[in-house]
Amino acid sequence: MYKDLILAYKGLVNSETYEISLLANTSAFIYEHISDLNWCGFYIHLDNKLILGPFQGKVACNEIEPNKGVCGTSLVTKETIVVPDVSKHENHIYCDNNSKREVVIPIIVNNEVYGVFDFDSPLLNRFDKELVEFLESITNILEEKLINIK
Ligand code: SME
Repeated sequence: MYKDLILAYKGLVNSETYEISLLANTSAFIYEHISDLNWCGFYIHLDNKLILGPFQGKVACNEIEPNKGVCGTSLVTKETIVVPDVSKHENHIYCDNNSKREVVIPIIVNNEVYGVFDFDSPLLNRFDKELVEFLESITNILEEKLINIK
């Protein structure tokens, strides 16, 4: 299933030439095809903080400072972070009380953090290894597109 989704995603973004459309459609694509998500979207790295970008789900905080929350941590460590239970994670910013598990993947473009791709689930058993690897693959394709668009 994930292989088919990767092909479908490549087809979707193939002719995309505008950054905001690319991000908006990427979040919509994941939200539509991956079940049990209550939020998925982007924070963009601008002026040494993260600014809310295109997303699907409930309204979210506008700005996140470096090292704040899971997103601000991923910005600094440049690594994917999987939080198994957000209620037990001290450095987590709640945007939706339904969120139980979270994944944040950094987006690296030209060796710099362009932003992060954030995913929340209302289920504690969501985001197994295969799903996280799939989301990282989608992020890699997105990075390639962003290099060509920017
Ligand atoms: N939970 C994130 C904040 C963003 S919302 O989940 C949309 C964090 O801790 O960085």
